[in-house]
Amino acid sequence: MKTSSKVRGTGSRIQAGILLKGGSSRPYPLSSEDMAFATRMYREAVIWRKRIDYALSKYVRQELDTLDFDVLTSLRIGAAQLLILRTPAHAAVSATVEAHTSRKTRGLVNAVLRKLSKHVEKDDIPDHVFYSHPEELVRRWESRYGKVLTKKLLVWNNQPPPLGGYAFGKIPEDTTPGSFLEKYRVIQRQGAIKLPPFFYIQDESASIVGQGMAKLPGESILEIGAAPGGKTAHLDGTGFVVSLDKKVRRMNRWLENSERMGWENSFPVGADCSALPFKAQFDKVIIDAPCTNTGVYRRRFDARWNWTPKLEQGLVVIQRKMLQESSKAVKLGGILVYSTCSIEPAENSEAVRFFEKNNTMFERIPFPAPKELLTSEGFLSVFPPEIGLDGLFAVAWIKKS
Ligand SMILES: C[S@@+](CC[C@H](N)C(=O)[O-])C[C@H]1O[C@@H](n2cnc3c(N)ncnc32)[C@H](O)[C@@H]1O
Repeated sequence: MKTSSKVRGTGSRIQAGILLKGGSSRPYPLSSEDMAFATRMYREAVIWRKRIDYALSKYVRQELDTLDFDVLTSLRIGAAQLLILRTPAHAAVSATVEAHTSRKTRGLVNAVLRKLSKHVEKDDIPDHVFYSHPEELVRRWESRYGKVLTKKLLVWNNQPPPLGGYAFGKIPEDTTPGSFLEKYRVIQRQGAIKLPPFFYIQDESASIVGQGMAKLPGESILEIGAAPGGKTAHLDGTGFVVSLDKKVRRMNRWLENSERMGWENSFPVGADCSALPFKAQFDKVIIDAPCTNTGVYRRRFDARWNWTPKLEQGLVVIQRKMLQESSKAVKLGGILVYSTCSIEPAENSEAVRFFEKNNTMFERIPFPAPKELLTSEGFLSVFPPEIGLDGLFAVAWIKKS
């Protein structure tokens, strides 16, 4: 199907709207450049939703969430271009209006975007609006890190991440090494890339955790929360790995990765770790726990809008249960690892202390990672704007008698 539009770039605006409404279809044959622009508009409209809505609300008479969803979607796509991408106003407005399918509401979209194109943002916008994050989360970060460091974190979270991954096979051309790992490769080329075999796309911090997990001793390995396989990629080949996850859809992605990466010693299990049939059988048990993702907001750019104190509290309960249950599968003298991609103490250091209080046979050991990433307590802890990588946390114990 071809767009009949005479306005350039209408197809990419239609595609951006489809993505923003939660769809994934591609009704128009877009060039890779137009598809990249559609994805960029979608990403910015999601990230900057709070700042965009704050500006839009000045030109819409009703509450934004009472607007027709298609109208709101077109307004957000238009506003992302005007406020964030700084697309020239005539192109942003006319192509977005053209892409808005309902003739009945086109006039409204046009009128609001025209006014918005002359909008000047004032200096007194609060940081949580300007940098578009949940207000309470920003207040918490400010009381923990101070205003300056929090602002750096907010800026970091809104930046597009570089593309890179770990080379388990040949080092691909047009790549440069990561900041810490030689085999971590940052892809320098723009546009469509043909990846070599055995290359796993992930942030360098995920590779650092994966490499650390692989270095810890133990040939029988139980990996909990394994899908889609970012850590399995590092563990496969170091022993016999049982890779367990409770979500079937995510395990399907693990299976695809297994086939692509040629994992030979990792075996998938779809199961909930709260009912493990294993007792003290594994040399090494690894829990990569579900978390708030606050360390990886620049990649999981929609995750900030799921954050609530209640979400965190619920995850804290789940994480503590997973750690407790999974620890039963560790042999005497074996290793236990817990990791998250959160930067919240409740999910990290406080989870560790809670576990250690009730499990004195587990003695903390330093996590094998570059020493500049280790805390004095032996945790691997990355705070993104200080280190320049995604945020994460990992800790390891040995089980003593
Ligand atoms: C952070 S993700 C894992 C990422 C994965 N290790 C990787 O590196 O690609 C956490 C995983 O834990 C899984 N999970 C959550 N609760 C679980 C449970 N009770 N038992 C098993 N897996 C669980 C989720 O389905 C999710 O895939």
